Amino acid sequence: MRIVLGVGGGIAAYKVASLLRLFTEAGHKVTVIPTEAATRFVGIATWEALSGNPVSNSVFDDVEKVNHVRLGHEADLIVVAPATADLLAKAATGQAGDLLTNTLLMAHGPVLFAPAMHTEMWQHAATQANVETLRSRGVTVLEPASGRLTGADSGPGRLPEPEAIFAAAMALAEAAAGGEEKALPAAHTSLAGRIVTISAGGTREALDPVRFLGNRSSGKQGAALAAAALAAGATVRFLAAHMDVQPPAGVELVRVESALDLREAALKAAVDSDVVIMAAAVADFRPAEVSDTKIKKVDGEDAPLVRLVRNPDILHELVERRNAQGSQQLIVGFAAETGDAQGDVLEHATAKLKRKGCDLLVVNQVGIGRVFGQDDNSVVILSGHGAEPQSAAGSKADVAAAVVDRVGAELTRVFPAL
Ligand code: CTP
Repeated sequence: MRIVLGVGGGIAAYKVASLLRLFTEAGHKVTVIPTEAATRFVGIATWEALSGNPVSNSVFDDVEKVNHVRLGHEADLIVVAPATADLLAKAATGQAGDLLTNTLLMAHGPVLFAPAMHTEMWQHAATQANVETLRSRGVTVLEPASGRLTGADSGPGRLPEPEAIFAAAMALAEAAAGGEEKALPAAHTSLAGRIVTISAGGTREALDPVRFLGNRSSGKQGAALAAAALAAGATVRFLAAHMDVQPPAGVELVRVESALDLREAALKAAVDSDVVIMAAAVADFRPAEVSDTKIKKVDGEDAPLVRLVRNPDILHELVERRNAQGSQQLIVGFAAETGDAQGDVLEHATAKLKRKGCDLLVVNQVGIGRVFGQDDNSVVILSGHGAEPQSAAGSKADVAAAVVDRVGAELTRVFPAL
């Protein structure tokens, strides 16, 4: 992939050297365009050496190559980090005073801004309006991380970690390549410094070495959740059962097959996680006997009967362990429900939230061809702590951003001291 890495004039420019490394080590061809101010923090020689490409910030260098047009046209992805208040303002108002702003105006592919500035500058109405303008045009603007800033101050405004920007950039490029919307719907919360464990996909319960009982889960919603949590700055442990899509780059990946494998991986990953999201479709039953050899049909004999036994309820066990330890961990369940004679979808879901004891339950209504494997989703998020149910709909990335936002809000509500 051809990436343009725009570097703004902020102290966090030095951290972008690590981001550049992540891009080049993943095999991408990167052209760095620092602003004039950025070169006061990190010199052009550093960017040339690390990218292996010539670096300029002037539209008057190599004029015959028409760089101010070419670079934006050719880039599969443009990432700007640190995006200063000044750069966001220039991009929002379409200014074209240097090579980077020209390139942004010529962008054909997705664009991602990773802001970094002092909290007052980030929260200023002018900056927020510029961010909204950019987002409304389909540009992805990450939320800055919270923490210690350059001076004695601290608050939202830190550059997200290079790994988080890398993961968000890769997820954005993947979504754009797959024909999805250009902007990655970014959560408005920061999960910087949090460990988030996410299970996704459908478990497979073996009958014999070649056959299994499975389900229709594609893992798309879980992958979108992981991308949204990464973009919000979290460290993501991703427990992937069978999936039709690739897990996003940047997660700590653990592959699992059956419900029992997932149980083991989830209990281990949860020990020091701040958040556990069980988005996997876990088989409630598994065959009581697993044949070591392929089960053969025998002429004249009846087909074999498959006896099933219950699988452990992993979500419930996670909640019990958390409660026993009294740890400040937020646990999120998913529920795929259909209404029936006993109650509608929400009644069933409310009962399930109580039964499972988790903090949030993300509920969707299923039927054949609905939700499973689809690109869009529509959910209601129920809270075990009395907050009003919240609806979220749109692409699975939109729903993921809404769930991650809700996780951020619930973390501060339930554990205000954290
Ligand atoms: N889940 C789990 N372990 C299981 C089954 C489900 O951890 N053995 C989790 C899922 O990952 C999901 C939530 O529990 O987060 C709800 O799963 P669902 O299958 O809808 O719930 P069930 O407990 O199977 O309830 P029911 O069969 O009554 O619908």
